[in-house]
Amino acid sequence: MKTVSTTPYNDQKPGTSGLRKKVPVFQQPNYAENFIQSIFDSLEGFEGKTLVIGGDGRYYNREVIQKALKMAAASGFGKVMVGKGGILSTPAASHVIRKYGAFGGIVLSASHNPGGPTEDFGIKYNIGNGGPAPEKITDAIFARTKVIDSYKIVDADDVDLDAIGSVDLAGMTVEIIDPVADYADLMETLFDFSAIRALIGSGFRVVIDSMSAVTGPYAVEILEKRLGAPQGSVRNAEPLPDFGHHHPDPNLVHAKELYDDVMSADGPDFGAASDGDGDRNMVVGKGMFVTPSDSLAVIAANATLAPGYAGGIAGIARSMPTSAAADRVAEKLGIGMYETPTGWKFFGNLLDAGKATVCGEESFGTGSNHVREKDGLWAVLFWLNIIAARKEGVKDIITKHWAEFGRNYYSRHDYEEVDTDAANGLMANLRDKLATLPGQRFGALTVSTADDFAYNDPVDGSVSKNQGIRVLFEGGSRVVFRLSGTGTSGATLRVYVERYEPDAARHGIETQEALADLIAVADEIAEIKARTGRDAPTVIT
Ligand code: G6P
Ligand code: ZN
Repeated sequence: MKTVSTTPYNDQKPGTSGLRKKVPVFQQPNYAENFIQSIFDSLEGFEGKTLVIGGDGRYYNREVIQKALKMAAASGFGKVMVGKGGILSTPAASHVIRKYGAFGGIVLSASHNPGGPTEDFGIKYNIGNGGPAPEKITDAIFARTKVIDSYKIVDADDVDLDAIGSVDLAGMTVEIIDPVADYADLMETLFDFSAIRALIGSGFRVVIDSMSAVTGPYAVEILEKRLGAPQGSVRNAEPLPDFGHHHPDPNLVHAKELYDDVMSADGPDFGAASDGDGDRNMVVGKGMFVTPSDSLAVIAANATLAPGYAGGIAGIARSMPTSAAADRVAEKLGIGMYETPTGWKFFGNLLDAGKATVCGEESFGTGSNHVREKDGLWAVLFWLNIIAARKEGVKDIITKHWAEFGRNYYSRHDYEEVDTDAANGLMANLRDKLATLPGQRFGALTVSTADDFAYNDPVDGSVSKNQGIRVLFEGGSRVVFRLSGTGTSGATLRVYVERYEPDAARHGIETQEALADLIAVADEIAEIKARTGRDAPTVIT
C-alpha cells in the first residue's frame, strides 16, 4: 500500500446525480483518485465490509474501476463486487447493494450524456439502502475534495474484469458477478411474466432501443430470453464505450427513429428506450407517446395489476416540476402524495419509511421501492404487465385515464449551453420579482402564487432550499423555472409548462398548442429571449 500526496481540485461539487465532467477533466492527474478518496474519507465504519462497483460501460469506465478497486483495498474494504466487464446498470447496482447487504456502492456513469474520449464521465456514491447519497454526505464529500492532500492505493496488477469469480487483491476479495441475473430475477418477482409472454406470443410486437448503452444485456435477457420476444426485438443491444455516437437520452429528439417506427402503420405495437445507465425510460404506444408524468400516474392507478404491487401502494412521490397528474390518482386512492425537489436522492427517505411506493420524475424517470434508483426496464415491464392484464393498448389506456382524471397538458423547454452568468441573472431576476407576481394578469391568466420551492423532508426534517421558481395561475396551470444540475458545459435553463384540462372533449389538442399561452407568458415573466439571446429552446420534450 502506498500513500500518494495530491492537491485539491476546486470543481468537484457533486450535482443532481454525482460528479459529472468531461473525460479529459477526469483524466487530469489524481482527479478521479481525489474524488474517490474524498468519498471514502466521508464515510465511517466500512472496515471489512462490501462495496459494489459498476458502471454503464462508457469510455474510461474500466480505468476508473481499476483505480477504485485498488483504493478500496487500501482503505480497508473487505470485499468489492463488480459487474462483469465493469457493467452494472444504475438500478441493477442499487439492487445488488440491497440484496447483498453491501455498505454502499460506486456507480460510474454520466447517465444520459454522451460518452467517448471527449464526452462525459461521472462518479456517484450510493449508500447502503441502494440509493444516491443524501446531501449530507455529498456536502461532506465536496468539503473533503477542497482540502484533500493524499490518497491511499495498493500497488497491484489490474484485476481481470471479464472473468466471473473471486480473486484476491492485496487482502481484499474482488468478486466479479453476472450483472444481469439478480436484476432479471427481481423483475420476475414483480411482474406477471406469463401474462406478458402470452401477450407477446399473441403477436403483440415490442421493440426496445437500448441506444448502445447499458440496458442491452438486460433487455435481451428479459425481453428476448425470458419473455420470448423474437431475436432482434432489442435494438442497439451492445453497450459501446461511445454509445455508437448516440446521445443515449430516451426522448422524442434522441429516440426519434423508434418513435417514428412505432407510429408507422406496420411498425411495432409498443416501443421503449432507456438511457446510458438504464434508469430512464421512454414509452411509446401505437398512436400515443406517453409523457413521463402521465406514465407515473397510469402506473400508480393500475399498480395492483402487477403481482409485486397487488396489495396496493402506500403513497406516490414526484419531483416538483413533474406534472400533477399523479396527484389526482393519489387523491382518488386516498393515499399520500409527496412533492420533492428534482433528484432521485430525495425519494430515498420516503421509500425507506414506507410513505411512498412509486415515484417518478418528468425527466423520464419512474421507479418504486424495489430499488432506490429510478428504473427504466422496470417501467417498461410495468407497462407491458398493464397492457397484458387490461388487454388494451397504450392509447386506450391513456385516453381512458384522462377521461377519468382529467389531462395535465405538459411540456418541458430546455435552453442548453446558455451563458452561465446570463442564466444566473435570469433566475436572480425571477427571485426578485416573486413578491410582485401574485395577482398580476397575463392575458386570460392570473398569477395565484409564486415562490422558490423549498422542501422539508418529512422523514429526517432536513430542508432543501432554492429548488426552482414556481409560478402558479388560477385554475391549476403553472410554469416552473430551474437550472439543470446535471449539465457539464454552460448552464441549462429548464422551463416546465403545465395546464390542467378536465374536459374530455378538449383532450385531443396538440400539446404545444394547448400550452401556447403559458409558453408566451413564461418568456414574458422570465425574459428568456432577451436574457439568453435564444429564439427557441434547444430541446422540447
Ligand atoms: C438525473 C437525475 C434525476 C433528475 C435528472 C434531471 O437523471 O437522476 O433525478 O431529474 O437528472 O436533472 P436536472 O438537474 O438536469 O434537471
Ligand atoms: Zn440515467
